[in-house]
Amino acid sequence: MAHDVVVVGSANADLVVKAERRPGAGETVLGEDTVIMPGGKGANTAVAAARLGADVALFGAIGDDHHGTILLDSLRDAGVHTELVETTARPTGIAYITVTPDGENSILVSPGANHALEPERVEKALSGAKVMVVSLEIPLRTVERAIETGARAGVRTLLNLSPAAALSERTLAALDVLLVNEHEAAWLLGSADDPAKLLDLGPRAAVVTLGARGALVLTPGSAAEIAAPQVDAVDTTGAGDGFTGALAAALAGGADLESAVRKAVQVAAISVTRPGAQPSYPTAAELPGG
Ligand code: RIB
Ligand code: NA
Repeated sequence: MAHDVVVVGSANADLVVKAERRPGAGETVLGEDTVIMPGGKGANTAVAAARLGADVALFGAIGDDHHGTILLDSLRDAGVHTELVETTARPTGIAYITVTPDGENSILVSPGANHALEPERVEKALSGAKVMVVSLEIPLRTVERAIETGARAGVRTLLNLSPAAALSERTLAALDVLLVNEHEAAWLLGSADDPAKLLDLGPRAAVVTLGARGALVLTPGSAAEIAAPQVDAVDTTGAGDGFTGALAAALAGGADLESAVRKAVQVAAISVTRPGAQPSYPTAAELPGG
């Protein structure tokens, strides 16, 4: 069955521990009780888009285990179509997350089943889609094949380059929208001086998320800064994925890029005021004017 938005990316169980500070090398720090939450950049993006009412499917992989069940339940509760989620012999991916009192996180990912996500089924998965969103934490060959296949089929292609990895020129040139945060932009360009140079890498447009400051929308000859509402952050985990999902949902609904980014900034701002990734994404009714 065709879906408006197809997300190609990871699904992880997030094992979250709050602690006063994160341990350094050779150090042991005691934290609070572990909370297990559904996460993974792909699953997060899909859930954020579905909460806003988009017709979305996740192309991903999990293991035949308890963590996989937690993910399927969360995806289905949000209304994400799961027929493209494959169950593999490897364990569901796990993200070990430390959250400190400033709301910042650090994440160690054990990819497990996500690294068994092969590109073979992607062509069929994308047929009839309006927008596809790809994030990393899955094999690069799957990322590249998905983007190139989508572009050829006339699907609008979005890439959230998180966590940063080197992609071929051909893949970057096949993108409609390249989404990065400031660190990823600096990593790609070798400096933070001129983010507009992201367009020289080949995408039709680039969006740079600026954390609490909002986002920058770059198209040939124009740069627009979209401010974020001021909020008290308790947990920024998955804010970028929420942004990406909201952007995809708005574009699939026919919004222009700048209005889609305005909505994405609102969604990310709400998500950081709540714990976790998937549980923190708002519905359309929770947005201003919703
Ligand atoms: O972007 C946040 C996500 O990164 C977490 O949910 C974790 O699973 C890792 O993939
Ligand atoms: Na959150």
